[in-house]
Amino acid sequence: MEIVPSQNVIGAEIHRVELAQPLSEAEFGRVEAAFNKHAVLCFRDQHLTEPQLIAFARRFGEVERIFLTHYAHPKYPEIMFVSNIKENGRDIGHADAGSVWHTDMSYTARPPRATMLYALEVPMEDGVTLGDTLFSSAADAHDSLPTEKQQRIAKLRAIHQVAGRRARTGTGQQDQALRKQQPAVLHPVARTHPHTGRKCLYVSKGECEGIEGMPQDEALMLIDELADHTTDPRFRHVHRWRVRDLLMWDNCTVQHLASFDYRWPKHRRLMHRITVDGTVPV
Ligand code: OGA
Ligand code: MN
Repeated sequence: MEIVPSQNVIGAEIHRVELAQPLSEAEFGRVEAAFNKHAVLCFRDQHLTEPQLIAFARRFGEVERIFLTHYAHPKYPEIMFVSNIKENGRDIGHADAGSVWHTDMSYTARPPRATMLYALEVPMEDGVTLGDTLFSSAADAHDSLPTEKQQRIAKLRAIHQVAGRRARTGTGQQDQALRKQQPAVLHPVARTHPHTGRKCLYVSKGECEGIEGMPQDEALMLIDELADHTTDPRFRHVHRWRVRDLLMWDNCTVQHLASFDYRWPKHRRLMHRITVDGTVPV
C-alpha cells in the first residue's frame, strides 16, 4: 500500500490496495491515520459490491441509517443513491447533493464522521470529466486566522438548521418535511477534531442561521466572513472523478461542494453513498 498526498493542504490517493478484501489491522491503521491527516482519501479502480462497501465503511464506525429513505438502495438501506438519473420521470437518487459549500448533516446533533462516495457512472463530454467535487480545509482555514479572531470565536456556537437561511425565503417541500424531523441545533463555530485535536471552522452559509446570543445582523456577517474564509481557494482540493473511485472525506476537517456542470439526459452520474457515525461536535 502506498499513500500519495496531493499538492494541496488536504487530499491523498491510496495506491495498491483492494478494498474488496478485508484490510488487516495494520493496513487499516495506516488508512485511518492517512484519513485523519489528509481528510480526503481516494482509492482508484475499486471493484466493490454493496456488502463490501458497507464492510469497509464499518471499519470506521457505525454506518448510519439513511433518513432520505426514498433515495435508499432497495436492498441495502445503508446505501443512498446520489444521482441525476431519472427513471419513469422520477429521480432515482438525491440529485442535489451539495450545490453550496457545506459539511454533511451539520444540522443534526451528531453529524457523520465520514462520507463515502463510490462512483458507478461519471459524466463526460468530449473526453472531459464533469461533476468534480471540491473540498476545502476548515482546519487550515482556522489555523490561518489571526490569534485575536481565533480567540473571539472560540466560545461561540452557531445555530444550524436544514436549508438554513433559505428556509425563510421559501423552500422545497422536502426541506420543509426535514425541518419538522430535525429541530435546529447548536454547534461550536470552531470545533475540535476528535482524532487530531485540530480546531476546524464549522459554519456554512447554507445551514447557519445565527449565533447564540449575538444580534442577527452581526451574526450573519460573521458567518459569511468565516464561511468565505473556510472555502478560500488556497485551502482547496478538487476531486476529478473516474468510474470505480471510492472517495471518502472527513466532515470535521473539510467542507465540500458539488459542481453541477452536467445535466440530464445528456450526462449520467451515479454514486453509492454511505455515512459513518460521528461524535457530538465540541
Ligand atoms: C454528498 C455530496 C457531492 C457530489 O454526497 O454529501 O455533497 O459531488 N456530494 O456528489
Ligand atoms: Mn455533502
